[in-house]
Amino acid sequence: MSDISDQPAASEISKEAQLLSACHEGNSQLVKDLLAQGAEIFVTDDTGRTALHFAAASGDVETIKIVLGAGIPWNALDVGDYTAGDYAESGGHSDAYEELVQAGVRAELILRMFGANDGNVDGEDKDKAANDDYLTQPVVYSGDSLVDAEKQGVMMAWEAPLMELHAKVICASPGKSVLNIGFGMGIIDTALQNLSPGKHVIVEAHPDVYQHMKDEGWDKKPNVHILFGRWQDKLDDIRALGPYDGVFFDTFGEFYKDLDDFHKAIFATSDDGLIKPVLSQPDGIYSFFNGMGGDHKLFNDVYCHVVRTDLRNLGIETAFSSVASDTAMDESTWKGIKRPYWMIKNYHLPTCTWVQNE
Ligand SMILES: C[S@@+](CC[C@H](N)C(=O)[O-])C[C@H]1O[C@@H](n2cnc3c(N)ncnc32)[C@H](O)[C@@H]1O
Repeated sequence: MSDISDQPAASEISKEAQLLSACHEGNSQLVKDLLAQGAEIFVTDDTGRTALHFAAASGDVETIKIVLGAGIPWNALDVGDYTAGDYAESGGHSDAYEELVQAGVRAELILRMFGANDGNVDGEDKDKAANDDYLTQPVVYSGDSLVDAEKQGVMMAWEAPLMELHAKVICASPGKSVLNIGFGMGIIDTALQNLSPGKHVIVEAHPDVYQHMKDEGWDKKPNVHILFGRWQDKLDDIRALGPYDGVFFDTFGEFYKDLDDFHKAIFATSDDGLIKPVLSQPDGIYSFFNGMGGDHKLFNDVYCHVVRTDLRNLGIETAFSSVASDTAMDESTWKGIKRPYWMIKNYHLPTCTWVQNE
């Protein structure tokens, strides 16, 4: 991250340079005045820092609000790939950080109201293979990772402690009926087996992963049912084997909209009452890999709010527990992987339950 004190030199007297400088000082009145005098808001310094990055570094919430109101997007990145949230955090400005999170949530909800977004708060699809592409290309297991044809990490061993925790959340005692979407390296499924579920249904869409499951004897395990295909195409089979005490979702090459569609599919009751929720009522527990926006803390925090709001609208309450996930930040973890998909010190593990009617 660039040193934010490296602001425009005093000798630069353009209105824009003064604007960035006023943002850096958190001088909200001067920022307002300069904008009223016609200063252009869409300027950056030579490291790509916007007025929002400078305002965030100042910690002044009023300045942040003005800059956002003038049109700088809450999710702007500088050339070092840092968000304004990173600058707020490194200055210890928690109020400023929270203001940025709330701005992200508001922007997302407004865009959605007008049907103007793709369901992803950070435009995360640009580097990711779409699900169809991913499913038609080979994947390779290499000890501590599973990678696709483009060397994107589909699943990696550093996630094992998180998967162990997810397994315990959805299968707290023996004999439970559990559903897992996405086998990957089988880490959560192995953890679930160790917790002695009564019934263990696994949905997996990739042919190579399915073959790997068979090679490892998963199709011979007495309490395991494998549904080979995309979860979208297996909903009838999923329902026929349900309902489930615990459900976990962790796919690849899918976006927030797919997760949201999954939620709508598994928590809904049809109007005629014939289709019942896949998660048992009232005590079923659902969880999902919360990796959305995982390369930027600000994006992930916004996703947490958005998904909680969306789940609440489906009658589901979400609690997040914070788990250290800093091992993933070690550069060696990502050796040979095209793009690190997790760069955050703390993972917010979701535990989702039916809203209880008082
Ligand atoms: C991140 S891995 C899952 C890792 C797993 N949680 C573990 O503990 O090893 C994602 C898996 O979802 C599978 N997948 C991707 N899209 C899917 C879909 N639409 N339906 C079912 N499985 C899918 C992928 O082939 C991959 O095996």
